Amino acid sequence: MSDKTEKNVQLEDIVSLAKRRGFIYQGSEIYGGLAGTYDYGPLGITLKRNITNLWWKMFVEDREDMYGIDSTIIMNPNVWVASGHVDTFNDPLIEDVKTKKRYRLDHLLEAQGIENVDAMSLEEMAAVVKEKGIKSPDGNELGAPAQFNMMFKTHVGATDDEESVAYLRPETAQGMFTNFKNVVDSFSPNLPFGLAQIGRSFRNEISPGNFIFRLRELEIMELEYFIDSKEWELLFESWLKTQHEWFENLGLDPKNIKEHEVPEADRAHYSKRTVDCFYDFPSIGFQEIAGLAYRTDFDLKNHQEKSGKKLEYRPKDGGEPFIPHVIEPTFGLDRHVMAVLAAAYDEDEVNGEKRIVMRFPEHLAPVKYSVSPLLKNKPELVEKAREVYQILKKKHGNVMWDDNGNIGKRYRRQDEIGTPYVVVIDFDTLEDNTVTIRDRDTTEQKRVKIEDL
Ligand code: GLY
Repeated sequence: MSDKTEKNVQLEDIVSLAKRRGFIYQGSEIYGGLAGTYDYGPLGITLKRNITNLWWKMFVEDREDMYGIDSTIIMNPNVWVASGHVDTFNDPLIEDVKTKKRYRLDHLLEAQGIENVDAMSLEEMAAVVKEKGIKSPDGNELGAPAQFNMMFKTHVGATDDEESVAYLRPETAQGMFTNFKNVVDSFSPNLPFGLAQIGRSFRNEISPGNFIFRLRELEIMELEYFIDSKEWELLFESWLKTQHEWFENLGLDPKNIKEHEVPEADRAHYSKRTVDCFYDFPSIGFQEIAGLAYRTDFDLKNHQEKSGKKLEYRPKDGGEPFIPHVIEPTFGLDRHVMAVLAAAYDEDEVNGEKRIVMRFPEHLAPVKYSVSPLLKNKPELVEKAREVYQILKKKHGNVMWDDNGNIGKRYRRQDEIGTPYVVVIDFDTLEDNTVTIRDRDTTEQKRVKIEDL
């Protein structure tokens, strides 16, 4: 694990800038926050949208074999029975009554040298805790244990009982499996083809943390690529390559990305092979940002069995229908935002003064131009600057009006939000229709004609 990146950036630098400049705020902050939740501010949501738009273009719009969908967060609870999440997301947990910290009960017992814990029921484990007087790692009494499922539960409809239980989805993938038949019926795609979506997922993480790295409410960009099982190895390699191309499109330095072959014991229940892509984040080092899993026919087969609906693909050459296998590239959107923020963060000196500058690639920068009148108390400058602002806004969308403080302060502020160009309207503009345009990275200023901006 590396404590520092080459630029010596720490996670707390990013967190502090993200809050100060309106990228990311703590969720429910005025009430002291809610663990594992963060809100995106005006610049954060724009940055996030720039990432999702780029992803959607590369993985859906630019391809012939991909179909975008947007499925619901709350699905029929049988979906999560068939997917294995109801069974496999259960961990036996126990709470320290004083600190309220929760621990994996099986891990606590194993740490005490107790054997065959895996074979014990929750009640048997509770009896051992009582009998041996086992305390929490902080030395406090432990409460009653409970099975803990990482899925968030809710109730659908007017009753509040077991019958009405539903879950907030822990992955977007199942929406693609449950819509497989719909898309096949509507579009008759040729195999291989994929379904893609971007959306919220929810995981009741025991220990969320590291800013937006481990969240309880997160966003995923994900696709399920349906294939003939004979081709899985070839297509798996090809998707791995595509994932690296994606990181390059995003402007992440390839030396900060590495692959991690996930050993069988650590793989999700549905996967026959998983390769994670790790990014070298400030303070926490190389950690997962995306993954690639070969889910076989696990999901479609189970959904076919549970729903009673045929989820097969009928080859167009008249061959026997079969359940396709699936390769799944998954991308953690919030982690992408964190990586892009970390990659952009830089500190240098301008005129002997330290400055923080976010060197976003132009296509990701939340603000493309800011427009300023040199002096805000000169109506003729303000009027002209407003004109330029409107012209640029029509052309480029994300353009900011900025007349706060003196020009030096405006430059610093725009550097901190990563605006590639600051345009200033001065008295010469009124004479010759030229403006100064200052480059974020070089800090050089040029005079250009308004129509050439
Ligand atoms: N669909 C895989 C995951 O969310 O981890």
